[in-house]
Amino acid sequence: MRKHVVAGNWKMNNDIPQTEALIQDLKRHAKTSEVEVMIAPSATNLWHASELLKGSDIEVIAQNMHFAENGAFTGEISASMLKSVGVKTVILGHSERRAYYNETDKSLSKKVNSALDNGMTIVFCFGEELQDRKADMHQSVVKDQIQSALFHLDASAFKNIILAYEPVWAIGTGETASPDQAQEMHHFIRNTLVNQYNQSVADDVSILYGGSVKPSNAKEIFSKQDVDGGLIGGAALNAEDFFAIVNAIS
Ligand code: PGA
Repeated sequence: MRKHVVAGNWKMNNDIPQTEALIQDLKRHAKTSEVEVMIAPSATNLWHASELLKGSDIEVIAQNMHFAENGAFTGEISASMLKSVGVKTVILGHSERRAYYNETDKSLSKKVNSALDNGMTIVFCFGEELQDRKADMHQSVVKDQIQSALFHLDASAFKNIILAYEPVWAIGTGETASPDQAQEMHHFIRNTLVNQYNQSVADDVSILYGGSVKPSNAKEIFSKQDVDGGLIGGAALNAEDFFAIVNAIS
């Protein structure tokens, strides 16, 4: 059975004092539930955030990593470095990384391999741009992204992969895909997995929706059959809003 997940992507926000304050707030709002709750602070805060959340149900995850184990890659961080600060899950392929740091499907597939080789779980992001949707190419763009980065893997790898469909036109814009648009794409993704692998891979993988999810629209989006949770940007920076979104999963 697939799990429900809500992950907060803090992006490049919050220094150490702000991280401490937000984590205190998150702990105040957290309730026990079957939803897996994750937060992704900046790399400089991962160790401290993991320490502050030890023993809680909130998992600290990373926003990115390099594919190499170590070496001359100034400014980069490896999977084993993440593990050494208590991080076991990493977001890969976020549209901002693809757009601003030239992450390609090829480099992402290397990151995917490295994360899995290191026993990590991946939140793998993908999604079409507005022009793709207008040209009715959104499904083929998404299929290409998943295929190029993930379809070299064995079916068993998918137990350590969470998918996050994030239409680029809905990220940080206040625009959301309608619940029906999200459902249609999530269903298409599951069908693509049935065709490439089998029904149980498709049924068991969690597919999150991301892009301007807020307390006011979360319930309707999460009510869709193939939407298993969300990857939250802006609203993850406020503990009350973030947990209102977590609690919108029934
Ligand atoms: P947003 O960001 O919720 O601010 O649109 C989502 C994301 O980038 O993951």
